[in-house]
Amino acid sequence: MSVSDRIEKLLIKAEIGEPLSRDEIIELLKMPGDSVRDLFASADRVRQREVGDEIFLRGIIEFSNHCERNCLYCGLRKSNAKLSRYRMSDDEIIATAEHIKKTGIPTIVLQSGEDSFYKTDSICRLIERIKTETDAVITLSIGERNLDDYRSFQQSGTNRYLLKHETSSPELYQYLRPGCRLNERMQSLRRLKELGFETGTGNMVGLPGQTWDILADDLLVMKILDADMLGIGPFIPHPDTPLTGIENDDIELTLRVLALARLLTQNTNIPATTALATLHRQGRLLALQAGANVVMPDFTPDIYKSRYDIYPGKSDTGAARNIIEKLKADIHSLNRTINFSAGKRPGKHFPEIIH
Ligand code: 5AD
Ligand code: SF4
Repeated sequence: MSVSDRIEKLLIKAEIGEPLSRDEIIELLKMPGDSVRDLFASADRVRQREVGDEIFLRGIIEFSNHCERNCLYCGLRKSNAKLSRYRMSDDEIIATAEHIKKTGIPTIVLQSGEDSFYKTDSICRLIERIKTETDAVITLSIGERNLDDYRSFQQSGTNRYLLKHETSSPELYQYLRPGCRLNERMQSLRRLKELGFETGTGNMVGLPGQTWDILADDLLVMKILDADMLGIGPFIPHPDTPLTGIENDDIELTLRVLALARLLTQNTNIPATTALATLHRQGRLLALQAGANVVMPDFTPDIYKSRYDIYPGKSDTGAARNIIEKLKADIHSLNRTINFSAGKRPGKHFPEIIH
């Protein structure tokens, strides 16, 4: 069988929802460049069939850039003394949440570094206030906490939780996130899922030491967790971290991983990540044509935005208003529309193959 026939066969198998083996995932990840259009087209069809043509928006508020972790890849790491740290006041956060609501976006993502300044109780009071004032669907993205904390967040009205597994290799994870363990991350993710949160995970593509096997396992982790949301972005080296100087300027591999995530998980919500938009002028649009169906504009007030410096160039992607305006024009050209509703993960349209 020729390579292109083999790829075609695997894509059909994936498109109808049949599980792929690790070796088959690796084959697709490594496919020759002239078949990549078929991969993206296949992912785009599954996206259309399972989650529709509409693009869902989530408004992000990066409310604190303090972080007690020292991840080798991240500009917010504790040892980065060059970063000017901030915490938004509760009133500033509420005002930003109201601004998001006024633009018609009914889902708010509260994101921060791992900052124990915020005790569980104060997060819960904040969530309750946002709920009362805006009635928005709330997503938390504040790192690992314990089971009781997750329960309290849920009781206070939190609907969704994002916790990227970052990499499926326990060794690489431990190296990149000193003092952290992948199995603890996975346990948190399983707990969040069991509690009934819509749960998000995801990875970075292009990390030093990352292999095809690890990337395939990243995709299998997303599938096995039955995650509802998947954040997949390129690793972008930050000058004030130990990983400065490592090259990763190509978004195609990230798009391949994203397309495969769509094929493997079918009805998940997958954002066109800011990291993709940062690395490539058309990154967001390309992702929306390779399986993505969500965009997450950043509403963090300008005085803070540039200080949420996870990777270089992030805040150059523009103000939320401009992102939405540009998006409206872009998606018009794709014959797609923005959906201003909360966009919960839908049920499967296509029956899973029973073996
Ligand atoms: N490049 C791309 N993404 C990064 N993140 C952190 N550092 C980088 C980087 N250098 C992502 C991680 C993490 C989130 C805070 O940002 O995936 O989950
Ligand atoms: Fe902190 Fe998250 Fe950055 Fe790690 S990736 S340093 S936990 S903000």
